[in-house]
Amino acid sequence: MSKIKFTIISLFPEALKPYLDSSMLYKAQKEGIIEVEYVNLRDFGLGAHKSVDDTPYGGGDGMLLRCEPAYAAIESVKSGSPQAKVILPTPVGEIWDQNLARRFAGVEDNSFSESEVAAKESPCFSWRRRLKGEDIIPLDAPATNGEQPEQGAPVMTGRDAVSCKKSKNRSVHYIIFCPHYEGYDERIMNLVDYPISLGQYVLTGGELPALIIVDSITRLLPGVLGGETSAQIESFSDGSNLEYPQYTKPAEFRGMAVPEVLLSGHHAKIAEWREEQSRLRSQR
Ligand code: ADE
Repeated sequence: MSKIKFTIISLFPEALKPYLDSSMLYKAQKEGIIEVEYVNLRDFGLGAHKSVDDTPYGGGDGMLLRCEPAYAAIESVKSGSPQAKVILPTPVGEIWDQNLARRFAGVEDNSFSESEVAAKESPCFSWRRRLKGEDIIPLDAPATNGEQPEQGAPVMTGRDAVSCKKSKNRSVHYIIFCPHYEGYDERIMNLVDYPISLGQYVLTGGELPALIIVDSITRLLPGVLGGETSAQIESFSDGSNLEYPQYTKPAEFRGMAVPEVLLSGHHAKIAEWREEQSRLRSQR
């Protein structure tokens, strides 16, 4: 069985646990479909006060996450798992959507094509190329923390990391590094494989994005949702179409009736109605 391991590096692991230990995500962990590990960034802080932030060079408001704790935390996870891929929630990352969730879950259809994989190592290739072309980081900086995979260990490509569709027994490991405070030292980006944005707004930290990323990947994994097809019929599962409206009992509630066709038992007509509703919604 394939398994996805998430290691979440955060200053507030206690804020993450209650959500991830509830409902479907709890079940997914209990059944070994995913594993969640928490690393407290504070443990890698500097000095007696375990400091992790400092003021920005050049002036400006707020505090920035320093490089040293971030590198130490990520490297400590990677020392036991050199092939793990690092996700950084950031407002300047690639916008997270259902297609990306499917790619990271390694489910069919929208996984990276052979040509995409050949052309680049990760979905944020444009980011990394841009970054390397700019002046913040030494241009020859390694794409990872520089550690080589163990001798003889299979080298994991971007495709391996984000698409395990061809292998039933592959384990994929994502490290989600959650920044906090006003921002982070840009050099941290050098350790990042996938900078991910949840949308065009700014949050106080990466914890909520981390929860959303883990949730949206996990629910796509086989065995997590009840119905076999639930993840296929829902909104955006084909990358664009919205799900048709659904109803359950009672057939009438406060004068609002369930559409006749759904009570008819006529499967072909129901399918036709759903398709039409889905099309109309998407158009709107
Ligand atoms: N951190 C702060 N704002 C964010 C956003 N919109 N997406 C991802 N990470 C963030």
